[in-house]
Amino acid sequence: MRIKVLGSGAGGGFPQWNCNCANCRAVRAGTPGFMARTQSSLAVSANGEDWLLLNASPDLRQQISATPELAPSSDNGLRASPIKAVALTNGDVDHVAGLLNMREAQPFSLYAAGRVLDALGANPIFTILQTQLVPRIELRMDETVAVSGAGLDLGLAIRAFPVPGKIALYLENANAPNFGTSAGDTLGLEIIETETGESFFYIPGCAKLDGPLTERLRGASLVFFDGTLFHENEMIEQGLLGKTGSRMGHINVSGEDGSIAAFEPLDVKRKIYVHINNSNPLLNEFSSEYATAQSAGWEIGEDGMEVDL
Ligand code: MLT
Ligand code: MN
Ligand code: ZN
Repeated sequence: MRIKVLGSGAGGGFPQWNCNCANCRAVRAGTPGFMARTQSSLAVSANGEDWLLLNASPDLRQQISATPELAPSSDNGLRASPIKAVALTNGDVDHVAGLLNMREAQPFSLYAAGRVLDALGANPIFTILQTQLVPRIELRMDETVAVSGAGLDLGLAIRAFPVPGKIALYLENANAPNFGTSAGDTLGLEIIETETGESFFYIPGCAKLDGPLTERLRGASLVFFDGTLFHENEMIEQGLLGKTGSRMGHINVSGEDGSIAAFEPLDVKRKIYVHINNSNPLLNEFSSEYATAQSAGWEIGEDGMEVDL
């Protein structure tokens, strides 16, 4: 199974278009140790030819252009794409807006939780993906579903499961508990290669490692995990946005309740941070925070990174 990190940044990417924080200024200036990152997405293939996208970011067009494997092959006719399916972890803008780049009457399958399909269904702009060509398939919790698209079996399966998180920002209800979040608004995905049974986890948004998630991840070969913020308060401290990580539905990397500590006893063979926000000190390769994460066994995701499993 081949896995490519198309985008390792969080919503807004790195640098973010309207941001003058220290990290965004440094990457714009070409400062050593800083690398630009597009928004949150992976691509997976069992045969190296047909690909499943995990999330469709607003930067998808740029990501496809940067990834030769995702270009139409010249022997495939006038209109073609190796992208045969897309699976979504939630309805956030940084994970669904790229679907609009996938118009032009190209068949593929779209997999998402029922509530996310409802949100897409309620927004007429997504009718640009006609359901005859782009069937919308509900991911039911803890069921393993074989991935197919455009009439092909991709040799992959998805097992989706709910993780602690938050409803998409544009659907928040200020008067409801946890802003109207229900189970299934934020998913983790286990992607399984049918032939070998090998699997990995993709969890770009997660508020907490609760008991069930901890048990699920124990001993895993590979986990791509929410690296949005290093510190709970970093956006407030940098004067960027008056929100904590918890308010945004993201666990922090550091601290007693952070992901480094939570993964420590889990014996995960390879763990990679993705969905890294532009405020995060992990974006500076020479920072002490980067060294801390590395010495705890974490890799910091980069665009174009490839993992073979
Ligand atoms: C998030 O990850 O918290 C969201 O992408 C935020 C947003 O929608 O901007
Ligand atoms: Mn996001
Ligand atoms: Zn910034």
